[in-house]
Amino acid sequence: MKAKIAINLTNIIDRVDPRLFGSFIEHLGRAVYGGIYEPDHKTSDDMGFRQDVLELVKQLNVSVVRYPGGNFVSGYNWEDGIGDRSRRPRKLELAWNSIETNEIGIDEFQEWAKRADTEVMMTVNLGTRGADEARNLVEYCNLKTDTYYANLRKQNGFEEPFNIKLWCLGNEMDGDWQIGYKKPLEYARLACETAKLMKLTDPTIELVACGSSGPLMPTFGEWERTVLRECYDHVDYISLHSYYGNPNQNTSEYLAASIDMDNFIKDTVQICDEIKAEKGSEKNIMLSFDEWNIWFHSKEQDKQIDRWQIAPPLLEDIYNVEDALVVGTLLITLLKNCDRVKVACLAQLVNVIAPIMTETGGRAWVQTIFYPFLHCSLRGRGLALQTQCDCDTYDTPTKSDVPYVESIAVYNDQDDTITLFAVNRSLENECKLELSGFDSHSMLSHTVLTGNDLKLCNTADAPNAVIPYNADTPMILPPHSWNMLIFSKS
Ligand code: AHR
Repeated sequence: MKAKIAINLTNIIDRVDPRLFGSFIEHLGRAVYGGIYEPDHKTSDDMGFRQDVLELVKQLNVSVVRYPGGNFVSGYNWEDGIGDRSRRPRKLELAWNSIETNEIGIDEFQEWAKRADTEVMMTVNLGTRGADEARNLVEYCNLKTDTYYANLRKQNGFEEPFNIKLWCLGNEMDGDWQIGYKKPLEYARLACETAKLMKLTDPTIELVACGSSGPLMPTFGEWERTVLRECYDHVDYISLHSYYGNPNQNTSEYLAASIDMDNFIKDTVQICDEIKAEKGSEKNIMLSFDEWNIWFHSKEQDKQIDRWQIAPPLLEDIYNVEDALVVGTLLITLLKNCDRVKVACLAQLVNVIAPIMTETGGRAWVQTIFYPFLHCSLRGRGLALQTQCDCDTYDTPTKSDVPYVESIAVYNDQDDTITLFAVNRSLENECKLELSGFDSHSMLSHTVLTGNDLKLCNTADAPNAVIPYNADTPMILPPHSWNMLIFSKS
């Protein structure tokens, strides 16, 4: 099989916002306790953060980390997680039926983010709480004033403000599973008034309004229109969430999941622009795809987990080769839409549907999906280029004309390199690349991730079962493979 890929160096989609390579840590399962934080672990630093995990997070070069939820945030009192740790309340956590000790709160998480060379993207509780608690949290985090909440932060040992720039107005408020679930207009009004108070407190922050928690939500469309009609002038982004999976074990169909992501993005952009026109506004609402990943492997086992445990092993999906390929196509889709998707968070980062896994008290290792994210995060920054791919297509039970090759090129204007990311979706055939559009650069490297067995995973005992390698035959994409080709100036 052949794929003719035309890369146009002058036809730029947009500059990739570094925040496209964000991730997410929720107070859920072993993400925080036993994941990033474990004071008794042999690698722990002075604040109890696992340095083996920190090192892996740093490798990923994650630009922002959304915190503290997720569903968790909709029942969370941020004040429970600050001040004297011995006096912090232990609480029932109703989103995940767990116990929250509040040992980690915003003060500690902000410090962890610093140590991980990343930034916090903060979510406020619009489930059980509202505008007042949200504006107090903005004051606590971002202000230097001689006022109650700013002083409280200083008393807690943090003289300098955290300067958190990106804030989410609640989480998945359209879902009936959400604590404090709302109807479109209920949420829209609350989000608008909360946004106003938060921006009055700190006008430099950027705000993300909740969009639909999935394209199949019955209110998708109506929700976005209602929210944007109320909030347009007060928010900067609308959120999208979507998880993918292969529950029917149809790999060809699964490998085409990025087409659903692409449609979801395009539909949302259309709605944003419809409201822009309705309002006669100059401003574009950008997209924050702040939860995306594969989530289905752990759903059955999670039903067996007892309630009211501290850090139960929830959502611990173990990812295989085909999952890594899907993550690769999803990353390519985000890059292709980077003119409107400015923020995206791989949900999540450690132990919970995550690229990084740990044993509590033991080892840390990386899952298959770590690698496509790593490659894009390191080499996918710069200018995303229109990349035309001419190749064979196939049909699935729900889609027709799925191209066998999914690809995008990014020009890095810092080091004058072009990086091509490509997934070969064919399960049987390799694919020979024929590239055109640039003569100025020649190939430096071709990295491949694949495996003879599509179900192969990395584990603590076999952490290198699936790892990237230098292509045996450069410019040939092996069957079912993720590829990164780097070209430098000749
Ligand atoms: O990431 C796991 C959960 O998925 C989040 O808590 C929620 O926002 C979404 O439904």
